[in-house]
Amino acid sequence: MSLKGKVVIVTGSSKGIGFEIAKEFSESNGAHVVVCSRSLEQSQMAAKKIKGSTLALEVDVTNESSVNKFVEKITEKFNRINILVNNSGYPYDESIWNKQFHEGTTDELWKILDVDLIGAVRLSRAVIPHMLNRNVNQSTQNSFQNKNEVKGDENGIKIHELETVSLNNQEDSDQTNGGGVIITISSTPAISGRIGGFPYTIAKAGNISLTKCIAKEYGNSNIRAYSLALGNIATKATYEAITQEVRIEAAQEAPMKRWGKPAEVAKVAACIADDNFSFATGNTIVIDGGTVLL
Ligand SMILES: NC(=O)c1ccc[n+]([C@@H]2O[C@H](COP(=O)([O-])OP(=O)(O)OC[C@H]3O[C@@H](n4cnc5c(N)ncnc54)[C@H](OP(=O)(O)O)[C@@H]3O)[C@@H](O)[C@H]2O)c1
Repeated sequence: MSLKGKVVIVTGSSKGIGFEIAKEFSESNGAHVVVCSRSLEQSQMAAKKIKGSTLALEVDVTNESSVNKFVEKITEKFNRINILVNNSGYPYDESIWNKQFHEGTTDELWKILDVDLIGAVRLSRAVIPHMLNRNVNQSTQNSFQNKNEVKGDENGIKIHELETVSLNNQEDSDQTNGGGVIITISSTPAISGRIGGFPYTIAKAGNISLTKCIAKEYGNSNIRAYSLALGNIATKATYEAITQEVRIEAAQEAPMKRWGKPAEVAKVAACIADDNFSFATGNTIVIDGGTVLL
């Protein structure tokens, strides 16, 4: 894989699917991963569980200045951003999820759009200039500490053991002419619709459009974009929040007759971010055990 040494942001990576994606990029593929959520403490705890290079930061994707400060900190530290995974999601709220369209409120719609869709827009908008302006010869010397040093600083930065830590190293430096990859986590209701929970469906449909906008507008700048439309993926926020009866029903929806695992999503994210996907962009990859067949 070509992910070694890449600087990757995974929003909402303090837990669930985002955590597994961060782990996959860092631990299994040698990328430098920014682990983040609204809570610095939760992000630091999550980063500590990953045996790879991580930087724990806090960011609220609903707050423009928080997003801008966050991106500034990352570029100050690493001098570049190669990959963004827009994964942050509004917390599961049973009352919104099960409400019929005519019962839903505009306030509920805004709350979900603000995190799942506009949050992804804010992050993408803040990151794209750095993907466009990347100076391939810029040195990022001193960004990393030596092997075996595990330290924290006031920004919650933790650098774990890595075989190669110097960004001046041939393998670890950025040899491409700019560009990057933006992956946004969508959901199958965005494609097939859903009875109930329309704010979520609309936000996740917007994620697919966002991906297409980025793919079209920045394809000639070597920025690729993808949406992952997920089916039922077992995280604490979903699987553990519902009754056993609902879990079984949900599993039966899929031809594979089971829930997906966060690690199965993470593997796909790492595969499509890889340079092997260099001539595919704007795609929606459905990860749902075969429920929605395009
Ligand atoms: N699990 C599924 O079955 C499933 C299916 C389809 C799509 N998805 C999508 O996959 C993504 C991850 O889902 P999950 O099940 O892993 O959810 P999760 O466990 O609830 O994780 C959500 C993450 O987003 C963060 N977050 C929430 N609000 C935020 C904000 N304003 N700013 C920054 N970060 C924020 C949370 O941390 P803090 O609250 O501490 O900030 C957390 O790290 C979501 O976009 C979800 O819609 C999930």
